[in-house]
Amino acid sequence: MIRAFLIFCAVVVMVPNDAYALSVSHQRTEYIDNPIGVTFEAPRVSWTLETDRTNTLQTAYELVVMVKGEEVWNSGKMASDQSHLVPLTGLKLKSSTRYFWKVRVWDNYEQVSEFSPFAYFETGFLSKKEWKAQWIAVPWEEESRGQNPVQYFRKNINLKRDVQSARLYITSHGLYEAYLNGEKAGDQEMTPGWTSYKKRLQYQVYDVGKQLKKGGNTIGAMVADGWHRGRINYRGPEDPFKEQLSLLAQLEVVYDNGKKEIFISDQHWKAAQGGLRKATIYDGVEFDSAQEPEGWKSAAFDDKSWEKVLVVDKGYDHLIASHAPAVRVVKTVPSVGASAKGDKEVIFDFGQNLVGRVTLLVECYEPATVVMDHGEILDPNGRLYTKNLREAKARVTVKVPGKGKFEYTPNFTFMGFRYVRIRGISRYRVHKVTAQVLSSDLEDAGTFECSNPLVNRLYKNVVWSQRGNFLDVPTDCPQRDERMGWTGDAQVFFPTATLNMNVAGFFRKWLNDLKADQYEDGGLPWVIPDVFAYRKHVATGWADAATIVPWEFYQRYGDQQILEEQYVSMKAWVEYMVRNSKNDLWFGKQHFGDWLSFFPEEKPHTRAAVTEDQLLAQIFYQYSLGLMIKTAEVLKNKEDLDHYQELYRAANAAFYNEFVTPNGRLVSGTQTAYVLVLAFELLDIDDRAQAAKRLVENIEMYGHISTGFLGTPYICHVLSEYGYSNHAYGLLLNKQYPSWLYTIKNGATTIWERWDGIKTDGTLQNPRVNSFNHYAYGAIGSWMIERAAGIQLNTKYPGYKQFVIAPEITDSLDFLKATFQSNYGRVESFWMRDDKGPMMAVEIPPNTKAEVKVPNGYKAIRLSSNNKGKLTPIDFYTEIGRSLSLGSGQYVIKLERMAVD
Ligand code: BGC
Repeated sequence: MIRAFLIFCAVVVMVPNDAYALSVSHQRTEYIDNPIGVTFEAPRVSWTLETDRTNTLQTAYELVVMVKGEEVWNSGKMASDQSHLVPLTGLKLKSSTRYFWKVRVWDNYEQVSEFSPFAYFETGFLSKKEWKAQWIAVPWEEESRGQNPVQYFRKNINLKRDVQSARLYITSHGLYEAYLNGEKAGDQEMTPGWTSYKKRLQYQVYDVGKQLKKGGNTIGAMVADGWHRGRINYRGPEDPFKEQLSLLAQLEVVYDNGKKEIFISDQHWKAAQGGLRKATIYDGVEFDSAQEPEGWKSAAFDDKSWEKVLVVDKGYDHLIASHAPAVRVVKTVPSVGASAKGDKEVIFDFGQNLVGRVTLLVECYEPATVVMDHGEILDPNGRLYTKNLREAKARVTVKVPGKGKFEYTPNFTFMGFRYVRIRGISRYRVHKVTAQVLSSDLEDAGTFECSNPLVNRLYKNVVWSQRGNFLDVPTDCPQRDERMGWTGDAQVFFPTATLNMNVAGFFRKWLNDLKADQYEDGGLPWVIPDVFAYRKHVATGWADAATIVPWEFYQRYGDQQILEEQYVSMKAWVEYMVRNSKNDLWFGKQHFGDWLSFFPEEKPHTRAAVTEDQLLAQIFYQYSLGLMIKTAEVLKNKEDLDHYQELYRAANAAFYNEFVTPNGRLVSGTQTAYVLVLAFELLDIDDRAQAAKRLVENIEMYGHISTGFLGTPYICHVLSEYGYSNHAYGLLLNKQYPSWLYTIKNGATTIWERWDGIKTDGTLQNPRVNSFNHYAYGAIGSWMIERAAGIQLNTKYPGYKQFVIAPEITDSLDFLKATFQSNYGRVESFWMRDDKGPMMAVEIPPNTKAEVKVPNGYKAIRLSSNNKGKLTPIDFYTEIGRSLSLGSGQYVIKLERMAVD
């Protein structure tokens, strides 16, 4: 504890007494660090201020943009405090050009910073006409059912001179990997990513200048099924393949004399099959080293036996640049233990349920077929448990040549696993297994730590589930034959996700797909991208992702553009409900309800916490209407504002009439029902306190949480809001089933899909619905950061331009600390209770202000600010109130416990 406090004091850079450093850092273009291949009309740039002086605000900035050493745009000195998402309006962009930008800032002390170092962004193809390449496909017939070998493509090219720079613009229907002279282009995985392919197919741009040389060079590529075709949904393996795979590649080389030459995919490319006999998302990979054409990626290879490709017409209209962070290997994890069954089978444990693939190093002197199976848990007999993967094989089969050492890493697939079982080879021949973690490469945004190790593990589990399930699309789970962008799951987890990582680019992409896949009548598919063959009924709480995610995005990133981009979609969804409502009640037809809420298997089932579907539908109808009101207000759309206010009033009256008794009881007396009506403020102000009391009575009656996917994200927030912080902590710290810590006591290293994945008698839940890596219940993460540590939005100042720090101190913990990288820089909230008395410490980044609230049950007795490493009491606070309005800086507040009457 003390150590944490000292570290807090030591972060300040020491400088001579009267000089204060002011500088700029964390330069981003459209949320990304030096993006390449962007096509935004007016890209927006962001930066943060660094200073050691308290109360610093930006008063002006100057932005300069340069191309090839020449200034092409200058904002001049702009009197503005904007440092987040500043549009480069008026800058005329050209395709395939790198723009360098720098910024300097002025502060409220009349200081001016140096110009920042250059950051850059590089444009992609701003017009579809830039595409010269042709779509190519293999010439042979493929199995219309079942799985086909991966396709290999190659082409030798001759470069006339030394290369100054080169870019590869490439995409595929299917997943691709590209190689230049045998070396992979870029470090991205699972490209071109997963989008609503028919309408939006991403291409990537790689800087490949260093991989090319004067003379003979080879471009190679592999194309696999990926998410594009085959079995990516509930439909069985008997379904025919839907789509042809194809590749589009354009290599633009600038020679040392400045001249450009373009090489494209066309009829001169060759194709063949190779060692990758199969590569699919659910089932894994089969690789036969004997069938791998040796050296096929290099210029010396003789491709006479390869076939000429077909040129196919797939058009360019659906092509878009990739603006979201790419999928990469973000970590490697060594195995922490192994258990063997004789010589022939060994199970490696990575100590962590994760998502990715296993790199295997074996040594053998006779050919062997090594089979790797992946699983999340072991059964009670110590065997690998794979039943909960349902029809996903999650298997890697490698035929090794038997020529000594052989290393293999599967591509075009990923698995959700903690354990890998290796068979087919003596375990003594397995030299090394390492797990490579695959995920969208998102910047970390948060940390959390407290005095309870189980709670710390819970926070880690939330982050690991996010990492595992944020693989280009926010998925429900990463292991079974599902792994889809379930809208409800994404919606409930979104706020937590923003506190752990910067997910702006990631969700902006997903929202674009949501918009693209929305049904014509405004209804929403269950999953985005929509991979179902036929239309599904719209589900309350799931379809509302269309309104909830954009609104929350706007709040957390202060990005009004997202509301503008999504407005049509938000409105279409709400109007769908309006059209299908009767007497201002929207019931819909069939819903998932409060999915996986508490349901005891033993009788009586009357204890089951089932919330009526129709009530849920009306609650979300109103919530979405409310969000339309707020959005119309932000976008200054008066007509819509009036329209939705009127609808809201009518819906609220109908809600009262239908679902609330004159005494204020809800027809479904569940925790979720009370939680949602309170969280969404559907009850009249006078009715709220007693509803909160009923909620608390219900929790006490059960002795535990009973909410499902829809109620869980809000339950602790509502308890805190209505003064029941102890009950919120009670739910967090409960170790008995059902609770978060129950899962931890049972060895969870990620968030479970259901409260009783492993039941209290040690047996496992129904394997059809029993994922051990499902982030929905991880939505408790937002309470941990926003209430326990107290780092909260001030909704009047979206994007944390101004915010609140209002921690809740509990006697059950000795200390608690969270940090958050906001749009303006690092926020910290720390509190502890020890013999020397309670205290809290906060950090507020420059160019923001925060309202710091003293925790309930305490009063503030001294406020000090950290001045270049020295704690200086702030004397102008002669009387410290319950709420302090503070500018940027680091502060320590000594607290005193108030007498309880
Ligand atoms: C998924 C969920 C999803 C649900 C809908 C499940 O199969 O795994 O997370 O939201 O279906 O009820």
